[in-house]
Amino acid sequence: MNYKSKDFLIDGIKVKELAKRYKTPIYCYSLRKIKENIKKFKNSFNSISPIICFAVKSNSNQNLLKEIGKLGLGADVVSVGELMKALKSGIKPNKIVFSGVGKTSQEISFAIKKKIFLINTESESEILAIEKIAKKNKKKINIGIRLNPNTDAKTLSQISTGKKENKFGVSEKDFVNLVKYVNNSKSLNLKCISTHIGSQILDIKPYEKMLRVLDRIIKKNNFHFEYIDLGGGMGIDYENNQKNLSLKKYCSSVKKFLKIHNSKIIFEPGRSIIGNAGILISKIIYIKKGYKKDFVIMDAGMNDLMRPALYNAKHRIIPASKNNKKIKKIYEFVGPICESTDKFSSIKNFQKLDENDLIIICDVGAYGMSLSSNYNLRPKPIEIMIKNSKAIVINKRQDLKELI
Ligand code: LLP
Repeated sequence: MNYKSKDFLIDGIKVKELAKRYKTPIYCYSLRKIKENIKKFKNSFNSISPIICFAVKSNSNQNLLKEIGKLGLGADVVSVGELMKALKSGIKPNKIVFSGVGKTSQEISFAIKKKIFLINTESESEILAIEKIAKKNKKKINIGIRLNPNTDAKTLSQISTGKKENKFGVSEKDFVNLVKYVNNSKSLNLKCISTHIGSQILDIKPYEKMLRVLDRIIKKNNFHFEYIDLGGGMGIDYENNQKNLSLKKYCSSVKKFLKIHNSKIIFEPGRSIIGNAGILISKIIYIKKGYKKDFVIMDAGMNDLMRPALYNAKHRIIPASKNNKKIKKIYEFVGPICESTDKFSSIKNFQKLDENDLIIICDVGAYGMSLSSNYNLRPKPIEIMIKNSKAIVINKRQDLKELI
């Protein structure tokens, strides 16, 4: 993904050709990059050979899931919809973990019927609900219990999940009591302690703290778990400033931890597998003069890419074709939605832009399409995948007539 002379290419294909062929906005993914990310992830954690379950919430496109499954990953799902999609994509039930605070009895029954690997529970009520269904079906069900380690992930507050004020997991005290309860249950099989402290984590320290908390609780109570699920959260370099989480360092910390605890590690990465493998291609509809800046009004809006509006998240914005005409203006890149938060970025000293020019929003492979909506009654974008330097449509643009 880079410029060749003036034009931006994704795996050998000019973005402007894709725009001509498919119209904009387009979500475009590089399969090569996904493969590269998975290889890097596996290599970094090679010495502890973890089970890797891709977080389907980050991107639930069936064709992408198929490819990710073929590369040996399982799935981490949080709804019956995601579970069905993972199964339909060929991911085997024995490689699927089910997380989430609000699984309904229908969702639990479906997961049990499909014999998935693990249900990671998040409350006493959920454990009782699973036990009831298990008893009714005369089955013994593998579960994990999610611990809330009260650890600050040092990321955006909106995507932090491991502090005691967050709804996720159970407190240490409840955890200890629930372990006792489950160990005495004839219908439940306690396999795993799980945790997930947040997303887009770039600092190793929160992970080290999380491991120290797990270490202390396991030792203090003399527990042993066959599996320890550490969740996902590994951050990526959105701002291109080389601030990266070192997966290798993370691996060394886990390895140290495993010297004392003889368990198999599960990871649930989403963003680190697919985040930087996707771009959003958009066209400028109008350029409008404001008081102190020019508004670049694009045909992609917050309904297509929600992260900037929702979390004030930063995504790099680049032109599809370079023209080397620098101008001293502030461009505010916005969408067509009737909301003031429908803006992606304000940039000084961008190149001179014209109406109909193409713009690329970077690193949208994770939580881009999966967070998109039909707000303002806009159809969801087309998704394409570049595989062996060929563009393949992996999800058609939503049909406006059908939507209406
Ligand atoms: N496991 C659990 C239990 C999770 O809740 C999540 C993400 C993951 C794994 C995957 O985390 P990742 O490796 O992708 O960071 N919409 C937000 C992110 C929300 C993440 C929710 N949970 C965003 O656009 O940044």
